[in-house]
Amino acid sequence: MAVRLAVSAFIIAIASLTPVNAQDSKEAAKAVSNEDGKYFDADGVPTYNISPEGVVDWFTFSGYRRYHSDCHVCHGPDGVGSSYAPALAESLKKMDYGTFISIVAEGRKNVGGGKENVMPAFGDNKNVYCYMDDLYVYLRARAVGGMPRGRPPKREDKTEAAAEAERSCMEG
Ligand code: HEC
Repeated sequence: MAVRLAVSAFIIAIASLTPVNAQDSKEAAKAVSNEDGKYFDADGVPTYNISPEGVVDWFTFSGYRRYHSDCHVCHGPDGVGSSYAPALAESLKKMDYGTFISIVAEGRKNVGGGKENVMPAFGDNKNVYCYMDDLYVYLRARAVGGMPRGRPPKREDKTEAAAEAERSCMEG
C-alpha cells in the first residue's frame, strides 16, 4: 500500500515535468548535466549518455539488463517488439517520460479484434519500479538512435550514489 502511494505521488510529480506528445530526438535527448553518474537533458528529464568511444552510462547499461529480464519476454529483444506487444524502441520516439512511468506502473489492457493483450502493472514490483529510470534511459537510447542492438560492450562504473539509491528503494 505504502509502495503504491509512493509510486502514485512520484507519477504526479513527474507528469508535470515533460511536455505531452513531443517528438523525441537525439538532440532533445542530449545529456547536458550529470549528477553522480546519472544524466539529464535540458528539461531535467533522465537521459542516456554514450561517449565517442562507445562507453554507455551505468543507468543505460542497467536498463538494458532490467529490460531483458522483465520486459523482453513480451516486447522482444532490444525493444524491437513482438506479435504480442509493441516495439518500445518505436513507442519511445513519441512517448514522454511521465507517460512511460505511468504505463509501466499501472499497466494497460487493449481489448479488441477478439484478442486481449495485457500490459501488466509493475507498480508493486521492486525489480521494476526501483529501475524505472534505468529502463527509460535505455529505451530512450534505443528510440532516438543513440544505441545499436545488443549488450553495450563498455559501460561506466556504478557510482556509490546509484548503489545507495538502489538499496534504499529495494529495502524501503
Ligand atoms: C506479459 C507481457 C508484457 C510484459 C512482461 C511487459 N509488457 Fe509492456 N505491454 C504489453 C502489451 C500487450 C502492451 C500493449 C497494451 C495495449 O495495447 O494497451 C504493452 C505496452 C507497453 C507500453 C506502451 C507502449 C505503447 O506504444 O503505447 C509500455 C511503455 C510498456 N509496455 C513498457 C513495458 C516495460 C518497461 C516492461 C518491463 C518492465 C513491460 N512493458 C513488460 C505486454 C507486456
